[in-house]
Amino acid sequence: MSAPAGDTRVAAVGPGPARAVPTGREVTDPLLSVRDLHVRFDEIHAVSGVTFEVARGEFFGIVGESGSGKSVTARAVIDLLPSHAQKRGQILFKGEDLLQARPKRLRAIRGSSIGFVFQDALAALDPVYTIGDQLVEALLAKRSMRRSAARRRAADLLDEVGIPDPRQRLDSYPHQLSGGMRQRAVIASALIADPELIIADEPTTALDVTIQRQVMELLQGIVESRGVAVVLITHDLAVVAETCDRVAVFYGGTIVEEATTTGLFAAPRHPYTAALLASLPRMGGTGEFRPIPGNPIRVATELACCPFAPRCANVVDLCRQRVPAEQTDGAHRFRCFRPEDPR
Ligand SMILES: Nc1ncnc2c1ncn2[C@@H]1O[C@H](COP(=O)(O)OP(=O)(O)O)[C@@H](O)[C@H]1O
Ligand SMILES: [Mg+2]
Repeated sequence: MSAPAGDTRVAAVGPGPARAVPTGREVTDPLLSVRDLHVRFDEIHAVSGVTFEVARGEFFGIVGESGSGKSVTARAVIDLLPSHAQKRGQILFKGEDLLQARPKRLRAIRGSSIGFVFQDALAALDPVYTIGDQLVEALLAKRSMRRSAARRRAADLLDEVGIPDPRQRLDSYPHQLSGGMRQRAVIASALIADPELIIADEPTTALDVTIQRQVMELLQGIVESRGVAVVLITHDLAVVAETCDRVAVFYGGTIVEEATTTGLFAAPRHPYTAALLASLPRMGGTGEFRPIPGNPIRVATELACCPFAPRCANVVDLCRQRVPAEQTDGAHRFRCFRPEDPR
């Protein structure tokens, strides 16, 4: 599935070749399958019963407000949670349950099949080594090759992620690159292992809108040229609209709605999603956000009712008494007693 070394530029992306995008939740032979995941930090229930699947080569979005459990879910997948986190459920990667895997096996999977890109590119790179040295060392750790060949490969990777003058750039230190170029370098290092899945947690939050769009186009290009799957975590629905095949909406540590991106934007079923969409600036409109009234919940106890009930315009008594069961409507899944009408 990997691209041939050197000759694939994916930075400039038009509409790519058609991909097999799943249309519903019936992802056959999923690459990643998270089933009923719960994560607690003592009394804090950060994640409560999260279930989703990601197909090979799919661009999957996770969207939700700050504190809704997105990063904890992502970190659970690659075992990067602090040791006091209590986890239960299943995280199947190509059928293997990562929650049951030994640390050595997990390290091997992290170093090969699953790549990670965090928000803070500066923290992901070592300030005292050049970009080239960092990529070369990572390449040499991965397979035996001559240093000169590793350097050529490192330049090819920088070229693949759209960094101009890659040979010269190998000698730059992280602080000598712009924020966008640094994030590209981090993506290049995630590609060294030839991953099948890249988890990108708010990779562009620190960047301005134009650069953000370019980095997203880069990730889309990588999905198309290498056939990797990307799980993109963001608090920005506009980013989801432009990039993702499918999306899961997180609220209060659960998925309140999941759908194809087109389906979600055409007819949101959960009132939270509907409110989020209504808060987006309209194309050609004033650009002003309409905030959702009320405050996001703090996830202090086990969920006993709908977490969105205190802020919901459609709320009924039942919403405060029980957690709504999951409903499905074609490609759509949602947890709500009073969903919006499908349009
Ligand atoms: N290491 C930790 N210890 C205790 N609580 C944590 C820890 N990491 C995250 N949390 C809590 O878990 C909840 C979900 O956090 P997180 O997944 O980071 O949210 P986000 O959706 O913004 O990424 C928050 O209430 C957060 O305070
Ligand atoms: Mg986060």
